Amino acid sequence: MTPQRLGVNIYHVATLRNARGGWHPDPLAAAHAAVRAGADGITLHLREDRRHIRDDDVTRLRAALTVPMNLEMAATAEMTAIAQAVRPHACCLVPERREEVTTEGGLDVAGGLATLRPVVAALAKAGIRVSLFIDPDPAQLRAAAAVGAAVVELHTGAYAEGRPGELERLRAAAAMTTALGLECHAGHGLTFANVTPVASLPEVMELNIGHFLIGEAILDGLGPVVARMRRLMDAARG
Ligand code: PXP
Repeated sequence: MTPQRLGVNIYHVATLRNARGGWHPDPLAAAHAAVRAGADGITLHLREDRRHIRDDDVTRLRAALTVPMNLEMAATAEMTAIAQAVRPHACCLVPERREEVTTEGGLDVAGGLATLRPVVAALAKAGIRVSLFIDPDPAQLRAAAAVGAAVVELHTGAYAEGRPGELERLRAAAAMTTALGLECHAGHGLTFANVTPVASLPEVMELNIGHFLIGEAILDGLGPVVARMRRLMDAARG
């Protein structure tokens, strides 16, 4: 099978940074670390409320990244203008509600053809590869092709929650993408424990993973960091 790309979503590094204000931990440093470890791309979600990634993160990452940048955003006029100015490699259009904790469901492409078509066209005209984040639903897949998207990202949230039949829905949706001429990506809620069946779907060319990787990085990295602080304190005390 062809290799699958890993897009690392660094938004929760920004969540942690914003908890204190200031610059630490820096999402750009996290992006560099992810790339050194094998990430093929960096994904960041500029939310309308700027609760994690900020506008200056988008511009700094765009200037510094050596791998493709995937900007997740709502299909609004404000976000379209930002994307046209920044020109990331790809934009993934996601639904967004201010009160949600994370992106809760897929985009209703079938119900929003008239709104989405001009946004997809404007982004594509700016040379941006447009992806739509959708539930693994045949009607949404057909609508994604109809609005001119190049890529669909299948929402794996329901699968990750263990809902019965979801892996089969993902498999069937992924299989449909070839005939529709869509590149297939997937993401949301993926972990070490549940990634293998999704990573095994032959049509899925890219996974975008955020929350688990950043959480696990804290757990996995806390030991050496505490040990280093211990050494510095011990050295200071002679
Ligand atoms: N893909 C998309 C389109 C998303 O909106 C998100 C969350 O922002 C992810 C992937 C990553 O999901 P998670 O953080 O659960 O790995």
